[in-house]
Amino acid sequence: MKKLLLAILLLTFVAVPVAGLILLYHLPFDTRDPSPTQPIAFSHQLHAGVYEISCRFCHRSVAVSPVAGIPDLALCFACHQYIGVDNPGVQQLSGYWKKQEVIPWVRVHQLPDHVYFPHMMHIRADLDCRTCHGEVAQMAQLTRQASLKMGWCLNCHREHQASIDCWTCHI
Ligand code: HEC
Ligand code: HEC
Ligand code: HEC
Ligand code: HEC
Ligand code: HEC
Repeated sequence: MKKLLLAILLLTFVAVPVAGLILLYHLPFDTRDPSPTQPIAFSHQLHAGVYEISCRFCHRSVAVSPVAGIPDLALCFACHQYIGVDNPGVQQLSGYWKKQEVIPWVRVHQLPDHVYFPHMMHIRADLDCRTCHGEVAQMAQLTRQASLKMGWCLNCHREHQASIDCWTCHI
């Protein structure tokens, strides 16, 4: 009888929490497309690679805000009013501009709502975009490199002695 009780106790207080924690590290099992097709074939390889336009020229708020920001059409048209006007991709862009419509870019990275990720803290800690996003300047179509799972965040936080308290990322 005592042995059975001990077994049940062990199961509820050790095995279940451990299994739960292991699950939390890996859940949810990833089904999202890491490289979705975009409404316009925007190439980072061309803009950031060949023409060496700085990441921060387009993703302006990355060093000062939680979100990096996707550039609006006005920024694209600073160049595309004059550059590549005969290019079919650029003409597609003009279509949105004339109708004053927002391009419905498909999100490549998307954390759940219960997670807080501040870009500016990571830029301030001197982490390069590449650490988390890979060689974006060589990507014709943007592809997510990181799993964005909790274990990914925690591993790096441990490495850098950054906080791993639950409420750092869950508010
Ligand atoms: C420590 C890892 C890390 C670094 C360094 C990092 N990012 Fe991110 N980035 C992320 C994560 C995580 C997300 C998803 C955020 C979300 O869904 O709330 C993201 C999302 C984005 C997005 C889309 C959503 C948004 O915030 O507008 C852009 C654009 C972006 N990053 C650009 C950059 C650029 C440019 C740099 C370098 C200047 C950079 N990131 C550096 C981890 C990082
Ligand atoms: C600093 C200038 C500059 C900015 C800003 C810029 N582009 Fe471009 N873009 C270029 C150049 C240069 C080319 C090459 C044109 C060519 O080869 O005819 C190009 C080409 C393109 C093409 C054609 C790609 C291909 O494969 O032929 C598309 C589509 C495009 N840009 C979309 C955008 C979008 C969307 C934005 C805003 C988010 C943007 N561009 C912002 C300079 C710029
Ligand atoms: C000419 C403007 C421009 C430049 C320069 C640029 N980007 Fe982007 N970026 C965009 C646009 C537009 C999108 C949305 C379309 C897409 O996902 O391809 C985007 C999307 C992204 C995303 C994915 C956002 C999401 O949905 O999760 C990341 C990450 C990113 N850029 C990082 C970078 C990095 C790193 C650099 C520098 C190496 C860079 N970008 C340079 C315009 C730019
Ligand atoms: C490549 C390493 C790396 C990755 C990956 C990473 N972080 Fe960080 N994070 C850091 C560093 C370094 C700091 C800065 C710590 C400091 O300044 O004390 C930081 C700081 C933070 C802070 C602010 C902490 C504070 O004390 O205010 C939050 C919140 C945060 N990260 C959330 C996340 C989340 C959520 C993820 C995963 C989606 C993530 N981080 C992924 C390295 C990383
Ligand atoms: C450095 C950031 C960070 C810290 C610290 C952190 N988490 Fe998370 N947590 C995340 C991220 C990112 C996700 C989303 C994972 C995903 O979508 O796959 C997540 C998801 C979760 C989930 C939802 C399950 C899931 O996989 O979506 C729970 C529950 C959770 N965390 C609990 C905790 C607890 C308890 C702690 C403290 C021991 C903690 N977290 C500390 C980043 C963090």
